[in-house]
Amino acid sequence: MSTRVDEIADGIFRISTSVPISAIPGGFTFNQILVKDEVPLLFHTGPRGLFEATRIAIESVLPVSSLRYLGYSHFEADECGAMNLFLANAPKAVPLCSRVSALVSMTDVADRPPWALKDGEYLDLGRHRVRWLDTPHVPHGWDAGLIWESMTETLFCGDLFTQPGMDLPPITEGDILGPSVGMTAGMDYFSCHHKARTILARLAELRPNILATMHGSAYCGDGAALLLGLSRSLSEPARIHRRNRDDEFMGASSEVD
Ligand SMILES: [Fe+2]
Ligand SMILES: [Fe+2]
Repeated sequence: MSTRVDEIADGIFRISTSVPISAIPGGFTFNQILVKDEVPLLFHTGPRGLFEATRIAIESVLPVSSLRYLGYSHFEADECGAMNLFLANAPKAVPLCSRVSALVSMTDVADRPPWALKDGEYLDLGRHRVRWLDTPHVPHGWDAGLIWESMTETLFCGDLFTQPGMDLPPITEGDILGPSVGMTAGMDYFSCHHKARTILARLAELRPNILATMHGSAYCGDGAALLLGLSRSLSEPARIHRRNRDDEFMGASSEVD
């Protein structure tokens, strides 16, 4: 396991821990996005097991105790498993999430009440300005949302464009769509394809310059083209065939029951 820190845009740091995982050949990365500003924000805490590695990496950029917002896309261990550990180490920090996530999970789970953001709501951090975007069920979790940072035109895109592997560049102008689509062929983490296409089109309208992924390399280039490419991939015949096959399987098992 190793952790690296890279500034992928002005004041936007990618903290990436590579972990060998038996379920994913070649291993996997867990990326936290840190905004260094008057009001520091961390997007994704990482799982509890990676807390110490993440904490030490953040300290190379700014004091963990100065963190004010601990954002996450949706309620899962890698997105927010270390939340209470960070709350204990950052006395002014609060969880930052969707209204649904606050309602169904974080208000109960967190040691301090979350700040629940409405779709489209802005937060000024100093030089950076972030906007919350609800993305229910995209790629999964009905509480899901993402963050847009307008100064650097960076989309904190969470599990979108998830790529396997550990020895990946922190940011690339190369292909991240192909590896991420390849991964969903064996591990389809999109929960609602028809909603995804509508939401991906809305995200593409932001015309992101950087896609800060949670797993794999960040991407620098025409983010809108990649988001629309991802949307098209969801309706490709192979994906539809696999979905139908899975539906048949579920139908067969319920008949047996
Ligand atoms: Fe997830
Ligand atoms: Fe994730």
